[in-house]
Formats: sequence, structure tokens, C-alpha cells
Amino acid sequence: MSIVIPTLREGPVVLRPVRLRDSRALERDLMENRGWLRKWEATSPYAPMSFDTRASIRNLLTHSRSGHGLPFIVEYNGKLAGQLNVSSITWGSLSSATIGYWVGERFAGHSITPTAVALATDYCFFQLGLHRMEICIRPENAASLRVVEKLGFRYEGLRRRYIHINGDWRDHFCFGLVSEEVPQGVLRRWQKGGVPTDAARVLAADLEAAAHPLPTAKR
Ligand SMILES: CC(C)(COP(=O)(O)OP(=O)(O)OC[C@H]1O[C@@H](n2cnc3c(N)ncnc32)[C@H](O)[C@@H]1OP(=O)(O)O)[C@@H](O)C(=O)NCCC(=O)NCCS
Repeated sequence: MSIVIPTLREGPVVLRPVRLRDSRALERDLMENRGWLRKWEATSPYAPMSFDTRASIRNLLTHSRSGHGLPFIVEYNGKLAGQLNVSSITWGSLSSATIGYWVGERFAGHSITPTAVALATDYCFFQLGLHRMEICIRPENAASLRVVEKLGFRYEGLRRRYIHINGDWRDHFCFGLVSEEVPQGVLRRWQKGGVPTDAARVLAADLEAAAHPLPTAKR
């Protein structure tokens, strides 16, 4: 099942399909923001980090063609600001997907990401018919935790050593939203001030647990 990657916009924030011809600009931005992104970057447990941006765009587009992903470029006032990927789309009785994102350091703090996440989530719920969206965040990532808090993604729990990030398996706090929770849409609910204030609050026991990571395996 192939899905169309739409162009979505709200004010100065635009989500548009990633293209192979974005590879040079993306590579430059990823290199310029190396220090800003490294701590949160997904890595492979099997191979060193790849900086082949063309190959990674090709990979994203392949997933999209098979109906498993929506790879977006995030633009702000017409400039390439970052990426948002809807990935791991599963259909049928799960009808669920995961969202990942980054913006360049010079674009941080303009609510670009919450706007982009709201646009993508509303598209997935109300155009694609997905039922559940998930965002998983390292406990140390205060800026990203603010994104789910702003939009009222609901805290679901701590997953130990869940995703390979910056060279090791890292704990993640996971947040979810199902379409019935936002009949008016995520973007509109946020804009109207209707986000429940404590939806994204992490349980005290999980905060405590995350402060004590599981031991890493001896190599
Ligand atoms: C997490 C991230 C995507 C947030 O994007 P954003 O578009 O800046 O989102 P917001 O504007 O809503 O900012 C969220 C919070 O970041 C913090 N923030 C703002 N400007 C910042 C800056 N220049 N540097 C660091 N943190 C900043 C603030 O706490 C802000 O919350 P506030 O609006 O209540 O003050 C962005 O910081 C980023 O790309 N970080 C590196 C990659 C990353 O962490 N990806 C997510 C992995 S789960």
C-alpha cells in the first residue's frame, strides 16, 4: 500500500515530502548541528554511524512507498529547519505509528516542532485513518519532553534500554495519543488552549527508575 506524502502548513511552518535533491542541504545542516543532535540521534547496534544522506533519504522513500512511513522536511519561513518522520506505520488492528523529529539549533524555541507534530498527527488520524500515534523520548531530553507536554500526548510508561541512541541502548519515556482523545484535532485543541495540563506528566516512580539505568552488557 503506497501512501501520498502531503504538504501541510500552519503559518510559517510547512511540512513537505523529503526529496533526493534535499540531500546536500540536509547533509550540510546535519553536519552544522552535529553537537546539537548527536546526543539524541538514532544509531545502529551493528554498524558505525552512516553520513550517507542520499542513502538515508532513499531508505525513507522506500518505506513510504510500501506504506510504512511519511518522511517530511520541516520548513520555517521557507527555510529548511529540520525533519519529521512518521515511521513504523502498522495498519489493521494496530493502526499505529511513531513520530521522530529534529530542528537545527538556530530554529529552536519557535514552537516549530509542536506545530509540525500536530499537523502530522492530525493528517495521520483524519486523512490516513490511523488510530494511535506514539512519541518516545530520552528522560534527559527536556526540550522534547516539552513538545509532548505542549500537545498533551499522554504518558504511557518507561521502556528500559528501548532504542539505540548515540551509541548505546537508552531508556525512553513513551507517550501516546489515540484519535478519540482529539476529535477536534491536535492542532486546534492546542491553539484553543484545551490541552490537559498533566497528560504528559511522568510517574514519579518512573523518574526515579530512569535515574538508575540498567547496567550495560559487558562486551
Ligand atoms: C526537541 C526539539 C525538536 C524541540 O523543537 P522546537 O521546535 O525547538 O520546540 P519548541 O519551540 O516547542 O521548544 C521546546 C522547548 O525547548 C527548549 N528550548 C527553546 N529554545 C532552546 C534552545 N535554543 N536550546 C535548547 N532548548 C531550547 C524550551 O524549554 C522549549 O520549551 P518552551 O517553549 O516552553 O520554552 C529540538 O530542541 C531539537 O531538535 N533538539 C535536538 C534533537 C532532538 O532532541 N530530537 C528529538 C528526539 S526525541
